[in-house]
Amino acid sequence: MKALFDSYQLGPITLKNRIVMAPLTRSRAGKGEVPRELNAEYYKQRAGAGLIITEATQVSQQGQGYLWTPGIFTQEQVEGWKKVTAAVHSRGGEIFLQMWHVGRISHTRLQPNGASPISSTDKAAANSFSFTYDEAGKPAQLPTSKPHNATLAELKQVIADYERGAHNVEKAGFNGAEIHGANGYLFDQFMNSVVNERNDEYGNQAKETRTRLILEAFEAVAGVLGSAHVGVRIAPYGSFSGMAPDPKVEETFLYLAQQLTQRGAAYVHLVRGSQMDPEPVVPTEFFAKFRKAFEGSIIVTGGLTKRIAEQLLADNIADLFGFGSLYISNPDLVERFKNNWPLTPPDQTTFYGGDAHGYTDYPAYQPDLVTT
Ligand SMILES: Cc1cc2nc3c(=O)[nH]c(=O)nc-3n(C[C@H](O)[C@H](O)[C@H](O)COP(=O)(O)O)c2cc1C
Repeated sequence: MKALFDSYQLGPITLKNRIVMAPLTRSRAGKGEVPRELNAEYYKQRAGAGLIITEATQVSQQGQGYLWTPGIFTQEQVEGWKKVTAAVHSRGGEIFLQMWHVGRISHTRLQPNGASPISSTDKAAANSFSFTYDEAGKPAQLPTSKPHNATLAELKQVIADYERGAHNVEKAGFNGAEIHGANGYLFDQFMNSVVNERNDEYGNQAKETRTRLILEAFEAVAGVLGSAHVGVRIAPYGSFSGMAPDPKVEETFLYLAQQLTQRGAAYVHLVRGSQMDPEPVVPTEFFAKFRKAFEGSIIVTGGLTKRIAEQLLADNIADLFGFGSLYISNPDLVERFKNNWPLTPPDQTTFYGGDAHGYTDYPAYQPDLVTT
């Protein structure tokens, strides 16, 4: 029988178990959006996971939507990430960088030259926030700015930014990259047939046009790292960051699954429900259809417990199991699961921004010493 704690062969990469640290934005990068020792310590503490996927990391300044999130487009950022990969590798961990472009989930104050963010539409995302400076210069959650529908030249630049990012991922010593196609960010804005209002080769009219941008990004990144080192994260049925219910959701994502199979993607990472959803939003039947359509490995994340993950493994829904919020407060999550030790709940007030508090000061579990 397959077990969560068994090693897993992710293409050419051997993972020491099937437990994945899901990508978690913590907004604690140093000046210039450069990862620092504090970040290296945080990831090292969590290197018991079979695979770590880093926090979302912008491939360009245009791709940024929140303060203090790290980047992967300057030499300083590459040097900063080297500290992180070295720390994780020193504990025998494997680590992929999550490559990010937020599209319209941004603010003119974060954009180069105060420009409007790019998207597949010129409508602002409903009920969505960017984390930036307010008029008084204080960090604040502000409604996202009105975007503009990207020109073809701008989309070409996005792909070039992903390619440069992939070279930097390699230089920084990562084992691979995950393309962030989930949670209402740029690629999701193109894949959603309601949000996407274009009618060109990247438009909403067909599954081929809606998925063109993310597939081009995949090819650019895989061209550098090799497709067996590139995964894609998606959130079908997700409503995070202004995603609209989409009647074409199944058609789009099952097509994407086939296309990623053909291109040899390492894995698809399915978001089962976001941290805002009380219950999983992806229907059970969709998982079964997706399993058939995609021949690579599948990671599933969202509202998992050890018990649910074991059930999904037994049901052959997925191969690898991601934990988000629990990894914030349980750096030794694998050991706790193995030994059925109690879990520490995360403190939401320290999720974003700040320093070591609520970040590297969650201790590993200390079993009571039994004295006789
Ligand atoms: C503080 C926080 C930050 C997150 N940042 C990211 C991110 O950078 N990229 C991403 O794809 N998902 C992000 N997520 C979503 C998680 O990866 C995960 O899908 C979600 O928390 C649901 O899993 P869970 O129930 O195990 O927490 C974040 C979630 C939280 C709570």
